[in-house]
Amino acid sequence: MKRAGEARAERFLKACRREEADCTPIWIMRQAGRYLPEYRELRRKYSMLEMAKTPDLVTRVTLLPVERFDLDAAILFSDIMIPLGGMGVSFRIEENVGPIVEEPIRTGAQVSALKEFEAARDVPFVLQAIRQLRIELGKLPLIGFAGAPFTLASYLIEGRAPRNLALTKTLMLEGGGLWDDLMGRLADTAIAYLKAQVEAGAQALQLFDSWAGSLSPAHYSRFVLPHTRRVFQALQGAGIPLIHFGTDTATLLEQMAEAGPDVVGVDWRVPIDEAWDRIGHELGIQGNLDPAVLFAPWESVEREALDVLNRAGGRRGHIFNLGHGILPDTPVENVERLVELVHRSTRKIPS
Ligand code: CP3
Repeated sequence: MKRAGEARAERFLKACRREEADCTPIWIMRQAGRYLPEYRELRRKYSMLEMAKTPDLVTRVTLLPVERFDLDAAILFSDIMIPLGGMGVSFRIEENVGPIVEEPIRTGAQVSALKEFEAARDVPFVLQAIRQLRIELGKLPLIGFAGAPFTLASYLIEGRAPRNLALTKTLMLEGGGLWDDLMGRLADTAIAYLKAQVEAGAQALQLFDSWAGSLSPAHYSRFVLPHTRRVFQALQGAGIPLIHFGTDTATLLEQMAEAGPDVVGVDWRVPIDEAWDRIGHELGIQGNLDPAVLFAPWESVEREALDVLNRAGGRRGHIFNLGHGILPDTPVENVERLVELVHRSTRKIPS
């Protein structure tokens, strides 16, 4: 790993704390993914889950994008489903589909049968990879992550990437305690998993609530927010930045901020300046270029990225990212130019 310069190593964490950095930091969700030829090469030999369970491969894949581009943080190569194995859930990950749960959860008995997650026992490979990465990355920060209770619950109940979440919402609205029991257990898992990642060396954490945007504000506040808030509250003492991300959350931004993160991640469906006004400028904001823009000719990519930067207005606390994960087949050259553009066009002239 080439040594990260002091400025590169600091700007992501500074922005998360809303301190002045030398320029706007950038990292990219799913930055270690299929658009990278080296990743595709490894995937010919190993499945996604094999890679995620082998510390040396996790380390290698996590490093790929930060070695290739001037990204300002690394994110652990893993998946939100990984800790569920420790709870006794069998699943596989299918290419172009995502996680498939062998026996979706539909009954109270299945919820009661879930085991308590224990990081050292259930995911030693993740903790080992984090320790290795801290050595390899030098001063460049490592982001750990977990799935938020609602997004994990929706995978567990639907059994696969949810379309309309009818089953999930049925269990949610049914009453009778099953929902809160399941969400409580998933919050416990997220807390234990994230705490273990911090102990192993993660320097920032992102909680992914990818499907939260499918809920009405009333349902979010009643059935999801208390559980997510408990996760953030349990981690606030860890002393590292906490990022709360979801998609399609334009109607939920105030509540996502209320859950207790330091930074809110937003997708492209809401202008970032409007989102920031709504969550309040005492929080940082992450986002929000539409990942599809990266397929356009460079001039369009540049115009769209500058629009995000202009809306963020060079204020302390903006972390540039895509609004959701980078898509397979994204032209690598546009990624490289985007990273360079974000840094160059926001660089502060030293006084
Ligand atoms: O961001 C990163 O680079 C870190 C690694 C990471 C992966 N998944 C790797 C992965 C992270 C942070 C995730 C989180 C994740 N996983 C989320 C939340 C973020 C989001 O995108 O909303 C969700 C919903 C999942 C579930 C999941 N796992 C999906 C939707 C998919 C993609 C299915 C597909 O093939 O398009 C996966 C598989 C997965 N996770 C891949 C990667 C690189 C692709 C695996 C492959 O086939 O090589």
